[in-house]
Amino acid sequence: MAGQPDGKHPGWPARLGTLRVRAGDVALRPVRLRDGGPWRRIRVRDRDYLQRWEPSAPGTWQERHSGLSWTTQWAGLRTLARRGACLPFAITVNGVFAGQVTIGNIVRASLQSAWIGYWVDSELASKGVATAAVALAVDHAFSDAALHRLEATVRPDNAASLRVLTKHGFREEGLFERYLYVDGAWRDHVCFALTAEETGSGLVARLIDRGGAERV
Ligand SMILES: CC(C)(COP(=O)(O)OP(=O)(O)OC[C@H]1O[C@@H](n2cnc3c(N)ncnc32)[C@H](O)[C@@H]1OP(=O)(O)O)[C@@H](O)C(=O)NCCC(=O)NCCS
Repeated sequence: MAGQPDGKHPGWPARLGTLRVRAGDVALRPVRLRDGGPWRRIRVRDRDYLQRWEPSAPGTWQERHSGLSWTTQWAGLRTLARRGACLPFAITVNGVFAGQVTIGNIVRASLQSAWIGYWVDSELASKGVATAAVALAVDHAFSDAALHRLEATVRPDNAASLRVLTKHGFREEGLFERYLYVDGAWRDHVCFALTAEETGSGLVARLIDRGGAERV
């Protein structure tokens, strides 16, 4: 089960999908260098929509979305993915880059645990994209990637993200006080978690059964 020293690890690289939701056909694939154009365009436009919820990094939003910033981020994610420390997926809708879902901080040995994080283009909001992307990523994490537990931490007022997690059966485990530096201050976050035993036949199958998506 442990990460492999040859630079590969279970479940990576992978392409996952496709699920049809209200926004279109949702699939996941590894992030690419050429995602930089759409990544920057969407995130510069969506600053107000994203900045309230995402961990702060040094520099202004503009600086963090300058010409070379995606190249640096992509290279960092690729290195971590090769080491088995993360699964950095691009979300596509009808084949077009529409956001990211990342499984990060993968710890093996007797923990087999990681966190999951995501964001979606505001122009596609509330059309089922994150719900489908999280279902695909979680099922993959608990099958091919051989993880056992996923955690998600969310600000208590992030209604859309809370809805995505609770729809999929993530359990609330407690409040992490002053947990992450977000939007200029140390913010409390609610911790949610899910273990492999809780997913039954899988989140994708459950989502399809409830009419939230169709397999394409
Ligand atoms: C959170 C986020 C990824 C959700 O993406 P999405 O594609 O719109 O999500 P979905 O459409 O799959 O599901 C969102 C659900 O929240 C609901 N929702 C959206 N805004 C809401 C609000 N203000 N109050 C209550 N529910 C809300 C939607 O109705 C939908 O539920 P439904 O399918 O039962 O109707 C997106 O809002 C985003 O990128 N936010 C900014 C970044 C962020 O918060 N990331 C997560 C950090 S923990």
